[in-house]
Amino acid sequence: MFVDRVLSGMRPTGALHLGHYHGVLKNWIRLQHEYECLFFVADWHALTTHYDTPDVIEQHVWDMVIDWLAAGVDPAQTTLFIQSRVPEHAELHLLLSMVTPLGWLERIPTYKDQQEKLAEKDLATYGFLGYPLLQSADILIYRANQVPVGDDQVPHVEFTREIARRFNHVFGREEGFEQKAEAAIKKLGAKRARVYRQLRTKFLEKGDGDALAAARVLVEEAQNLPMGDRERLFGYIEGGGKMVLVEPQALLTEASRMPGLDGQKMSKSYDNTIGLREDAETISKKIRTMPTDPARVKRSDPGNPEKCPVWEFHQVYSDELRRQWVQQGCRSAGIGCLECKQPVIDSVLAELKPMRERARPYLQDPTLVRSIIADGCEKARKLAQETLREVKEAMGLGYN
Ligand code: TRP
Ligand code: SF4
Repeated sequence: MFVDRVLSGMRPTGALHLGHYHGVLKNWIRLQHEYECLFFVADWHALTTHYDTPDVIEQHVWDMVIDWLAAGVDPAQTTLFIQSRVPEHAELHLLLSMVTPLGWLERIPTYKDQQEKLAEKDLATYGFLGYPLLQSADILIYRANQVPVGDDQVPHVEFTREIARRFNHVFGREEGFEQKAEAAIKKLGAKRARVYRQLRTKFLEKGDGDALAAARVLVEEAQNLPMGDRERLFGYIEGGGKMVLVEPQALLTEASRMPGLDGQKMSKSYDNTIGLREDAETISKKIRTMPTDPARVKRSDPGNPEKCPVWEFHQVYSDELRRQWVQQGCRSAGIGCLECKQPVIDSVLAELKPMRERARPYLQDPTLVRSIIADGCEKARKLAQETLREVKEAMGLGYN
């Protein structure tokens, strides 16, 4: 349970662009080599704000999965699935809702922000208020402890931690917990039991975090523990009750900011994007016609890269030498803007070429993508069902 498990989701917004690649996907691709990773399409989340356009969801889902694969997310190393195909998320969402104070949801910053931002939509809905809790269910159902997200999502992970803590507090206490935990310790075998007790004491008396981690590993590695005992032993280290749900952490990486063609953040709503699978001609044209420092009206006018979105692209794509070439050439009117843009065009095309190639087989044969997702959904469901069974048991719903 305490092997690092990474989970992240993305709303299906259709074909992805360079902003998604530099902001999120590059990170996923790095993580997939280091951790067990689950990545999913948050299609129910899309409905919380876009319930009025159900007709586009399906296309958006498949386009997005193809873009993940094109960017280099490897289905052999990660589990890729679709939220609505693992209905256990919804069941956990419902069960968690029983102990979720309304005030906690209303206080999450995105609640008011998004309502104001999307003022043309009626977001005074139950689904929209509850969406951070749905996100909590997404995370908790896999006992994921690492959640790569952008800054805007950190409050949601924080909220998820509070929900997990509250759940464990309310439902992790059972009649005779201490005795059951003591009995579970005996099942570890004499040697492990002794080490477990020592580590537990160290943690409880001195707050020794290493001891806590070591004790968790010990429980993790213990074979053949009956159901429930593992959670008891995890919880008992820290003194409390059973630890049914695991508190996750936000995994923040310095997000490489990808500017849009106009210098604002790259985003579909600003119409300033470069799509991951756009053809070379379209991309070249988009960059060639990008705005530059407005002071450079004529070729002979010197410019200031700080006032030019092309410079921001150079900061993403160019090495030190080329950046100097831009700085000097621009300020002295030694280079023209088209000349300055050419290496950016070349870099973007070079970055995207392998993506177009990786996407090709999936576009030619859509059943490939369907089967990757079918496999992923099956794997995800197994994990989800296991947690849900323990959650139900803890909540008194263990009868079948
Ligand atoms: N809410 C996230 C977003 O809008 C997407 C998401 C849904 C998510 N469930 C998640 C991200 C679970 C991380 C973990 O971007
Ligand atoms: Fe921008 Fe380059 Fe033109 Fe300077 S030379 S204004 S940095 S495009």
